[in-house]
Amino acid sequence: MSKQKSSDVVWQETHVSQAMREQLNGHQGAVLWFTGLSGAGKSTLASAVEQRLYEMQVRTFLIDGDNVRHGLCADLNFSDDDRVENIRRVGEVASLFVQAGVVVLTAFISPFRADRDKVRAIVGERFIEVFCDTPLDVCESRDVKGLYQKARAGDIPHFTGISSPYEPPESPEIRVQTGSDDLQDCVQQVVDVLQARGLI
Ligand SMILES: Nc1ncnc2c1ncn2[C@@H]1O[C@H](COP(=O)(O)OP(=O)(O)OP(=O)(O)O)[C@@H](O)[C@H]1O
Ligand SMILES: [Mg+2]
Repeated sequence: MSKQKSSDVVWQETHVSQAMREQLNGHQGAVLWFTGLSGAGKSTLASAVEQRLYEMQVRTFLIDGDNVRHGLCADLNFSDDDRVENIRRVGEVASLFVQAGVVVLTAFISPFRADRDKVRAIVGERFIEVFCDTPLDVCESRDVKGLYQKARAGDIPHFTGISSPYEPPESPEIRVQTGSDDLQDCVQQVVDVLQARGLI
């Protein structure tokens, strides 16, 4: 099967626009893209932010790295090529959520700067990169899933921070000190940015 888009594929316009959906929802669509090492606190923080937004009557959807590996990306592994494809797919899905007027939260290590920047290019100004800036030694001491121990033993190839690189964002919209700050302070920091930008 060819991977090229057929020239017979024509864009179909719709009557209901993103702006109309956003008006119905009472807020704008956006992507909160949480990135950081394994154990940095992406899932924990994204989930806590989603809970807060839900209480504020904001329509949200959280896409978590581990969960998409069961379905949308079940055919991918952790090689560099497959990590790139994983993030590309999630970026496209996140873009659809933005068009639906939803605040989508994504929790992926997303170690490569170029891949995150591609998603930023797809989504545009509604892309908010949230760098969960927890040092490697803190992540490793947390070792929530026991993966660092396995990676150090050589049982997990391409493990980010150990045997595969993590490229930190150069100018993220939000940098949270998820290694030292209180969780609720981090939640507030994220919500403040959404409000300051007039998105919610
Ligand atoms: N300010 C904070 N924000 C987020 N998590 C925190 C914070 N302070 C402490 N933690 C703890 O750090 C751990 C982070 O684990 P979590 O599973 O959220 O990481 P992750 O970045 O999603 O990792 P992975 O990439 O492996 O899924 C949790 O045990 C959480 O309770
Ligand atoms: Mg996680």
